[in-house]
Amino acid sequence: MALRKIVKHGDPVLRRVCPNVKTIDKEILQLIDDMFETMYDAPGIGLAANQIGVALNLAVIDIQPNSKKFPVVLINPKVVELKGRLFEEEGCLSIPGFLAKTKRYAFAKVECINEKGFPITVSGEGLMARALQHETDHLKGKFYVDRLPLIRKLKLFNEIRKFKKTHEW
Ligand code: NI
Repeated sequence: MALRKIVKHGDPVLRRVCPNVKTIDKEILQLIDDMFETMYDAPGIGLAANQIGVALNLAVIDIQPNSKKFPVVLINPKVVELKGRLFEEEGCLSIPGFLAKTKRYAFAKVECINEKGFPITVSGEGLMARALQHETDHLKGKFYVDRLPLIRKLKLFNEIRKFKKTHEW
């Protein structure tokens, strides 16, 4: 296991539409281990592979990172169902120090394969639904901030730009 550096907003890898994982080999399993370690260390509840600079359609989630009891691996995830509405504060490890209330669906269902290569369905409400949407967005090159109303988005981008000038990013 190894801690990886989390890349920040502005890095082009975070705008990539990540291609599918072709085979689950030793390298991919190592990558998954590293992603969990990096996510728990941050700490965060989700991490997409491109957030550590690897453009592959793969993410990890654990909405209870303190207990580390519910690790979920999403390989080649595809959102198949969304319903309801949520409007809660959201943040991102690639945009540290910022939060914004973001419109999301209250329920999300994703089809993917797990680390053993079996097709699985992962679904959830509330925080899990948000994590599923947030991470699958990353894998399509999107940030939660892209979903904000234009004025709010421009204001936040401006704040991020100012923050980058005075802080290590
Ligand atoms: Ni994020």
